[in-house]
Parts: sequence; structure tokens; C-alpha cells
Amino acid sequence: MIALGADHGGYELKEAIKKHLDEKGIAYKDFGTYSSDSVDYAKIAQKTCLAVTGGECDKAILCCGTGIGISMAANKVKGIRAACCSDYFSAKYTRLHNDANALCMGGRVVGVGLALELVDVFLETEFEGGRHQRRIDQIAQIENGEIL
Ligand code: RB5
Repeated sequence: MIALGADHGGYELKEAIKKHLDEKGIAYKDFGTYSSDSVDYAKIAQKTCLAVTGGECDKAILCCGTGIGISMAANKVKGIRAACCSDYFSAKYTRLHNDANALCMGGRVVGVGLALELVDVFLETEFEGGRHQRRIDQIAQIENGEIL
């Protein structure tokens, strides 16, 4: 199950992603926003990401105007590793090396065609583990207030 969230700047991209996931038979839960009316992205990022850290969903896909604000908010949720991506290589390697569990994109930055490619590679790529696990663990240590 994929958790989807967007503000007004990412609303149309989120709708395009829903259609794409429907076509691929991938289940998702939409945490809003549900129109192009102006809303604040932090609350939506939090709600969407809590569905991932709570175990209801496997990964989150978040959209705002730039992808940046919603990724900043997402990364404040404990256990979330959100990556704001606008290129294929980053969307692939943030899974391989960072085990990212949230993909963030800017509806005013990437076109729908590219965004759907990023969604596909993000969802299809597995974490490599190995030396990268140690680095993920260090991120969690920072999150827990430990000094590395
Ligand atoms: C909303 O206008 C815009 O600021 C927001 O979608 C996002 O780009 C923030 O980072």
C-alpha cells in the first residue's frame, strides 16, 4: 500500500500518480489534499508519513510545488527518509543506497511523464543493504539525539 499526499502545488501531479497506480494495479491511500485550493503541506506530510511509520503503508509519495517543503516536513517524522527527486538516477539510488521510504516531487518542477518514471523506479528498486545499512543506522542515531 502506497501513501499519497500533496498540497495544492502538487495536487494535479498526485492525481496523475493515482491514475498511473490504478493502471498498474498498485494499491494506495490518498491522504489529500483533495482539490487545488491552497493548503499547508506540513500537516499532509505528517499524516501521510505516519501511515508509513505506523505500518499501514509501505512507502509514501508526496508532492508540493517544489517537492522541497513537503520533504522537509516528511523528514521530521521519525523513521522517515524522504528524498526530493527530479531525476531518474536520484530516485533509483535513494532506494539502493538510502533505503528512502518517501519520494517527494515538485508538481511545478517535473513533468508528469518524468514523475511517473521516478515513481516506477522508486517503487521497483530494492535497498542494497551492506555498507549502506550502517549509514542508515547513523541517520537514526542522529534522529535519536545521539552524537556520532
Ligand atoms: C505553495 O505555494 C508552495 O510553497 C509549496 O507547494 C511548496 O513548493 C513548498 O515547498
